[in-house]
This record gives sequence, structure tokens and C-alpha cells, in this order.
Amino acid sequence: MSIRDEILRLKAEKNAIIMAHNYQRPEVQDIADFLGDSFALARKAIETDADVIVFCGVDFMAEAAAILNPDKIVVHANGESRCPMAAMVDLEKLREMKKEYPNAKVVAYVNTTAKTKAESDVCCTSANAVRIVERIDSNEVIFMPDRHLREYVQSQVPDKKVILWPGYCYAHEEITPKLITNLKKAHPKAEVMIHPECSMETIALADHVFSTGGMVRYAGESEAKEFIVGTEEGMAYRLKTLYPEKTFYPVEQSICHNMKRIHLEDVLRALETLEPVVKVPEDIAERAKKPLELMLELGRSD
Ligand code: 13P
Ligand code: SF4
Repeated sequence: MSIRDEILRLKAEKNAIIMAHNYQRPEVQDIADFLGDSFALARKAIETDADVIVFCGVDFMAEAAAILNPDKIVVHANGESRCPMAAMVDLEKLREMKKEYPNAKVVAYVNTTAKTKAESDVCCTSANAVRIVERIDSNEVIFMPDRHLREYVQSQVPDKKVILWPGYCYAHEEITPKLITNLKKAHPKAEVMIHPECSMETIALADHVFSTGGMVRYAGESEAKEFIVGTEEGMAYRLKTLYPEKTFYPVEQSICHNMKRIHLEDVLRALETLEPVVKVPEDIAERAKKPLELMLELGRSD
């Protein structure tokens, strides 16, 4: 039996669902039941009636699914797949910052650990960061950990003070203005979609700024036939699969090696052993759940 068939057999036997982020390897995307951006994955985790969620994405995404689903078994396909940006928060420093800005609300990008979420007022993803900052009942927010997303949000919500935390994503730092300019010269008819984890200099070259879920939606709706995809290179496979009649140009230099740690063999092992189960200590999970739930409420579109 092929590895793929064995995965399908075990999935049915264990009433499991495979959830995967848009940056996963093509072969992992191909066996996923649900593919999405961080926001869609968090929402889907609540809706599913599967007993087991096998999560193909980095640690914070699997952790969010576990926090939102205390009654389900959430298995991380590879426990070594971790987002380095999520590790860029020093909790002591955050507590000091909260004292320095006593009126500020803490908006934690979903790319954070459960402990960081537990210290925050609300979470956000790149799909809803602007909306969350607009809707949170405070004129000052500490926004962490991505400095580029913070700068983008500040540009969209100029009436609020959006306080910097100096984190970043190495894969999006690779997407330089020069690379995008070169792609634009090579493909002058292509529309340019850029992820807001890129620098403002790169964003300045965009026709549209989107989360990965926003890119999926827009590429389907647009009349354009060609797109420059300014995010991690795995996204282009996702878009090509959905829209084979259109052409997508990735930034090949942008690779998230942490996402790519998950292979089909890991998915099979996770289904066979139901390990590693994502476990968040109960007190932390309880506190981290509140900002995630507030994000789901404030982040919805009208
Ligand atoms: P999205 O929520 O847009 O999929 O982004 C997640 C992420 O990790 C981007 O680097
Ligand atoms: Fe983290 Fe960047 Fe990878 Fe997203 S692309 S998971 S932010 S390292």
C-alpha cells in the first residue's frame, strides 16, 4: 500500500482530519482535508467534528488548535516544526512594557507561544490585524512580535498608537524590493500580491496586501491572469492547484524551512502513533483561550 493510501486508511479508522497551512510541501497539501491561513485554520479547528486533528503547520498553529479544542486530540505532525518569530517575545520585557504603557492593550499576533497569548488582550492574524486594532477598545496597543506587520497596521490605523515589538520573519525578510522589482520587469502584466510580514519598502510595490487566505480569495476573483506572489514560495503551489488556468510567480528565495520540516512520513507516523499530542498546561490554556476567542469575535467581517 502506498504511503498516501495508508494515510487515507488510518484517517478514516481514527476519525481524523488533516489540517495544513498554505506553505506546506506540495505532497502534504495534496493529502490535507483543509488548507488555509492562520485565521481559517483556527476557525476550522472549532468547527470540525473529527476526534483527532493532525496538524501540518508550525507549533503556534497546532497549539492554537489545541487551546480552542480541549476535548479533541491535536497531534502535531512534527513537533520540531517551530516558528522562530513566536520565540521572539521575552515575557519579562513584555510585563515591563505593560507597566510603561498602562493604558495600552496587548495585541498578540497569532505567531506567539501560548504563554505570550496568556499575557495578551486579543490575538490577531495577518488576515484581521487591521480590523482587530481598529475594533479593540483602546487608542494605544502594544503590537507584537512582528515589526513589519505593526508598521503596516499603523499605516492603516493612523489614529491609534501602535507600539513596536522588534520581531520579524526571516522568510519574508528575503522578499526585498529588488526581487519584486525584477519580477515586475519580467512579468509586467502580473498583479503583485504581498504579505504584510514584508517590509514597508516591499509593500510599497504591491497592488494588494493580503494574508495567504486573502491571496487565495483574490486570485480567484481577479480578472488578471498572472500574479507575483510575495510570500513564502509554497503559496504558489497552492494557487496553481486552485487556479490552473492562471500563472503565479513565486519569490523562490523565500522559504520557511520550519514549515518544510513536515513530510508525508511525519503525517503517517502521527496517524499511527497519535504522537506528539499538543499539550498546553491548563492554567495557561485557559488564559490563552480568551484572546483567541476575542479575535474570532472581533476579526469576523461584517
Ligand atoms: P497567514 O496567516 O497569512 O497564512 O500567515 C502565516 C504565517 O506564518 C506567515 O508567515
Ligand atoms: Fe514563522 Fe515566517 Fe515561517 Fe510564518 S513563514 S511560520 S512567520 S518563520
